[in-house]
Amino acid sequence: MKRLFLITSIMLSACVTCHQTQAERPKPNYDETKIPKYTLPALLKTSSGKKVDSAELWWKVRRPEILSLFESEVYGKSPAPPKNMLFEVTSQKNDALNGKAIRKEVSVYFTGKKTGPRMDLLIYLPAKATKPVPVFMGLNFYGNHTIANDPEIKLSTQWMRANKDKGIVNNRATEKSRGASASRWAIEQILDRGYGLVAIYCGDIDPDYDDGFQNGVHPLYNQAGKSKPAPDEWGTIAAWAWGLSRALDYLETDAQVDHERVAVMGHSRLGKTSLWAGAQDQRFALVISNDSGCGGAALSRRRFGETLNVINNAFPHWFCDNFNKYIDKENDLPVDQHMLVALVAPRPVYVASAVEDRWADPKGEFLSVLHAEPVYKLLGTSGFGAKQMPKVNQPIKQRMGYHIRTGKHNVTDYDWQQYLDFADQHFQGS
Ligand code: GCU
Repeated sequence: MKRLFLITSIMLSACVTCHQTQAERPKPNYDETKIPKYTLPALLKTSSGKKVDSAELWWKVRRPEILSLFESEVYGKSPAPPKNMLFEVTSQKNDALNGKAIRKEVSVYFTGKKTGPRMDLLIYLPAKATKPVPVFMGLNFYGNHTIANDPEIKLSTQWMRANKDKGIVNNRATEKSRGASASRWAIEQILDRGYGLVAIYCGDIDPDYDDGFQNGVHPLYNQAGKSKPAPDEWGTIAAWAWGLSRALDYLETDAQVDHERVAVMGHSRLGKTSLWAGAQDQRFALVISNDSGCGGAALSRRRFGETLNVINNAFPHWFCDNFNKYIDKENDLPVDQHMLVALVAPRPVYVASAVEDRWADPKGEFLSVLHAEPVYKLLGTSGFGAKQMPKVNQPIKQRMGYHIRTGKHNVTDYDWQQYLDFADQHFQGS
């Protein structure tokens, strides 16, 4: 209840253009017996009704069909990679974090011009690495300076959502913001285990509020004569995912990073984003969704916790406008979120839930993994191996991974422990 109250107040304070008042918002269902009857769209049948029984049919026909449906109906189509991006290393220190890390900051100018929008990457690599290292890449909510207690990280000057606890004053970061989200990034463990971390503030790519797509990267790519994306073109989640791919473009030029072993990880709205990034861009070698919920790993048709009605009204900028067609009509959706997980196949995918995070529908998150498994099997992997939700704190780690841990909507050291083990399992020796 408290979390719901908190979410509600955050939504109301952060979202000036909410389409629903609190009183109008439908009451969330948390009762398994009240889940509407539904049939998931067939994963392994083409739109013309042909059974998909070979890897070839999956790659040539069904996968492109599903990808295109997610583009036009859910997240919106994103533009092709820009041609002339400019990468600038703005700082480098080889003995950061008491000698444990190499720390680099890199600006990515999307248009190749320093007058256009840019995103700043914060990169930590193990100082003692002798060869290119695999990395975790993740967007953050309040700026790169929040992810570590490291006073030398550049303090972001971008717009931020209001949040007193994170030291945000008048929608800008202050010195108090430094390290404010450090508990969510297990940097020491990541480095000790031989991995690097690449952090990006999501608001560098597109600030998280509904302004009709006037700021961030959207205006750079409007169709001629148009001032905002068309109903099947990218919303904010797609823009963030596009930004993650641009960060990967940079990593391909960085000799200290093993760009073939990049795990993309995100929490909550940014977990929806890591899934969409990993689904589209097959250069991401491993994909992690932490508590991503509605529009992420949770099945929309279950309508448990957050629904399309609530999310599209509270955050009208996250998805493409076509997604609104399915408000209270989830059964008409040509896809459901298990198909998003399936787009990651055969690459390792890990979905995590938390017991107290009912808003994100833990069971719906589990079911997406379960129902995506046939594609993983078709492509010759071990798949998931589970039929039922595991007990709390008992992770499943095959080619597909899942856990539900005790506690709240958050990213904890326990979550990272599982992601690091999972990455070891799939990256070592590959
Ligand atoms: C809200 C929203 C969720 C989202 C979460 C977050 O709770 O309703 O869909 O995942 O914010 O990003 O923290």
